[in-house]
Amino acid sequence: MSSYDVIVIGAGPGGYVAAIRCAQLGLKTAVVEGRETLGGTCLNVGCIPSKALLHASHMLHEAEHNFAEMGLKGKSPSVDWKQMLTYKQNTIDTNTKGIEFLFKKNKIDWLKGWGSVPEAGKVKVGEEVHEAKSIIIASGSEPSALPGVEVDEKVVVTSTGALTLNKVPKKLVVIGAGVIGLELGSVYARLGAEVTVVEFLDAITPGMDPEVQKTFQRTLKKQGMKFVMGAAVQKTEATKTKAKVHYKLRKDDSEHVLDADTVLVATGRKPYVEGLGLEALNVEMTKRGQIAVNGTWQTSVPGVYAIGDVIEGPMLAHKAEDEGMAVAEVIAGKHGHVNYGVIPGVIYTAPEVGSVGETEATLKEAGRAYKVGKFSFMGNARAKANFAGEGFVKILADKETDRILGAHIIGPAAGELIHEICVAMEFGASAQDLALTCHAHPTYSEAVREAALACGDGPIHS
Ligand code: FAD
Ligand code: NAI
Repeated sequence: MSSYDVIVIGAGPGGYVAAIRCAQLGLKTAVVEGRETLGGTCLNVGCIPSKALLHASHMLHEAEHNFAEMGLKGKSPSVDWKQMLTYKQNTIDTNTKGIEFLFKKNKIDWLKGWGSVPEAGKVKVGEEVHEAKSIIIASGSEPSALPGVEVDEKVVVTSTGALTLNKVPKKLVVIGAGVIGLELGSVYARLGAEVTVVEFLDAITPGMDPEVQKTFQRTLKKQGMKFVMGAAVQKTEATKTKAKVHYKLRKDDSEHVLDADTVLVATGRKPYVEGLGLEALNVEMTKRGQIAVNGTWQTSVPGVYAIGDVIEGPMLAHKAEDEGMAVAEVIAGKHGHVNYGVIPGVIYTAPEVGSVGETEATLKEAGRAYKVGKFSFMGNARAKANFAGEGFVKILADKETDRILGAHIIGPAAGELIHEICVAMEFGASAQDLALTCHAHPTYSEAVREAALACGDGPIHS
């Protein structure tokens, strides 16, 4: 038996960041992880592999669509799927090994195996029981099941199977037009698959700014993706190599069937708490199966904390990381803090989508007076030069005070541009503060400034 100040269960972005910060703050720390490699969902089967495939397939798209016009002639590249998977795996490996290096550097013990909490202050891994003054549960999430749809991770797959298909399917049906469905759907569409997305609601990416939703869907359609909206999937039928997806259109209850070589089920994720022993420990859960925590990430059991996908809030790696740092500070007797009002969301398609803060819908619901400053990338010189003029920046600011309340961007590098707005919001900046800040020319960032100008006396280039 070993004794620690802190034992973290789960080495995803929440858990590994919490462990590193705990160690940096002088706490003797261990992490329990049952996977073969560190980094959790994000590094192994989530953010990192999906972004590697998005990058590679985007390069192919650029070569096929824009190279000739720029005077880059020659044979366009063809897809070597096996090599693309090797590139993806190498990307995963360098990242997961990086976390192992950081653990060694910070003297964090990796307790290999699946952990449970038999009582407060104790963590069991295999047959060994370790003592810890504080325990942080960061066990993450897993794909939600869909009634009537049996996942075999070969023909009917979740995102995990979709990242390791043995070939690019001819026909891919994606169930769910959320972040996973659209990111991985675009990967396969760019690689030559015929992709049909079946979505229950009438708009893609629920909760997003409606103008962004419309522009986004239009652009994806132009890229060849097909959409069946307002459709409730009833069941799938799969053989070893093919599947049928049965759905009903909500508007008239009519029944339809789609043929597919692969079906990607991407209808959300749920907290993963299996084997932790939370019931016996009497840990309070929310109605949605998340571990309930208070403002300092304490569960209902003293000394047991929880962070990341397993608790309430957006299931995002950076949200988990922020909670990881904050809970470490709380445990070390400092004041950990996460500003949940300023957590950006990014979709890494091309164009990218980035958003933060309030939407027009949430502002209307709260009865708040606001103004909108919008600027199209068609007025941005850099975007036009790079064939990336599609999309816009939209800033929402308080009508009276001009304080920035949110922003929604679809366009080139939206996932980077959104952070200028995040910093501005953290500092309580007004749209005018952004508008008066000199932005280098020619950059995509100028579109953010122009949108800020549009909240005041007007943009220059539109
Ligand atoms: P996880 O990363 O899920 O890690 C939990 C870890 O705990 C796992 O390694 C698991 O093995 C381990 N564990 C669980 N129970 C035990 C136990 N009892 N004992 C020992 N170990 C245990 N988010 C973004 O912000 N950006 C993206 O681009 C992005 N892309 C994504 C793409 C895909 C395909 C998917 C599926 C997700 C993506 N996400 C993305 C979401 C992101 O992966 C999660 O929000 C993030 O990983 C949550 O971190 P976490 O630390 O809470 O949990
Ligand atoms: P999601 O919640 O983003 O989208 C699920 C979609 O499926 C919704 O549009 C929903 O209406 C639809 N749906 C639900 N039931 C359906 C049914 N029966 N038939 C048809 N459609 C149905 O979930 P997703 O895409 O699975 O992603 C899970 C989580 O992973 C998200 O919370 C996201 O935050 C995270 N993630 C983040 C990424 C990023 O930050 N870039 C990338 C990938 C995942």
